[in-house]
Amino acid sequence: MDLNLNNKVAIVLAASKGLGKAIAAALSAEGVKVIIGSRDAGELERTAKEITAITGNEITAIAVDVGDAARVTDFIEKAAAAHGKIDILVNNSGGPPFNKFEHFDDEAWQQAFNLSLLSFARTSRLVLPHMQKTGSGRIINIISGSVKSVLANSVLSTSMRMGVVGMAKLMADELGPYNITVNNVAPGMILTDRLKHTLPKDTDPELALKERAKNIPLGRIGKPEELAALVTFLASEQAAYISGTTIQVDGGANRGIF
Ligand SMILES: NC(=O)c1ccc[n+]([C@@H]2O[C@H](COP(=O)([O-])OP(=O)(O)OC[C@H]3O[C@@H](n4cnc5c(N)ncnc54)[C@H](OP(=O)(O)O)[C@@H]3O)[C@@H](O)[C@H]2O)c1
Repeated sequence: MDLNLNNKVAIVLAASKGLGKAIAAALSAEGVKVIIGSRDAGELERTAKEITAITGNEITAIAVDVGDAARVTDFIEKAAAAHGKIDILVNNSGGPPFNKFEHFDDEAWQQAFNLSLLSFARTSRLVLPHMQKTGSGRIINIISGSVKSVLANSVLSTSMRMGVVGMAKLMADELGPYNITVNNVAPGMILTDRLKHTLPKDTDPELALKERAKNIPLGRIGKPEELAALVTFLASEQAAYISGTTIQVDGGANRGIF
């Protein structure tokens, strides 16, 4: 299927590794001009080169901390100037720490709000005039399956992602007239460094992953490219009538019916 993405321009945030990197690579493979951002400039540049070597398409790397308003504003200006338009925004960030509710103080809550909710609102607001100018757009938020069923120790993540779900619903309502769609993609367990860091230190990582996979109907942990495939579809012309949704990529792990 031709997704009609050739020569579209996409911003993918938190993209030097993990889910963001896989999304950038998948979009680039479809001929999208991709601009990637994350904090470590060296790592970001290496990722850009790596993707270009695979897809043959140039990637623009601009270092940014998504929690820093001034740097994000500068990032969006540079990204818009790179190819003269922005068609697709993939909001993503490093996830908040895991722990029980009682262990998080005000500062931890403020930080989680800044990184996982406010940053998504800010980048969306900043790309809006560019999408309104071209008369179409795609905003895709990477959140977490914890918005669908309880995930232990994820109170910061869950609380902020629930905010993104509400925000996206309102944005889909308000931005539909501009032909801009807004959707959320909710990963279950996908094999990235973030997941690896949550494994018990005293167990063989392969065994620990197998143990985690036992409760997943498809019997395995997901691959970043499996989530990236959905994001790429949501970015495409074919997904023009999908807006305001939250779609899980979790191997069936969420048993909730709604
Ligand atoms: N993998 C899963 O199973 C899973 C499940 C549910 C939800 N999620 C969520 O999906 C998102 C991506 O997770 P992942 O698994 O891809 O994580 P990852 O492999 O740890 O990658 C995180 C990426 O985010 C970048 N980043 C972190 N903080 C940033 C900041 N302040 N500004 C800009 N970039 C930043 C990192 O680069 P720098 O450090 O250089 O900035 C890196 O490129 C997270 O929010 C996570 O909570 C993941």
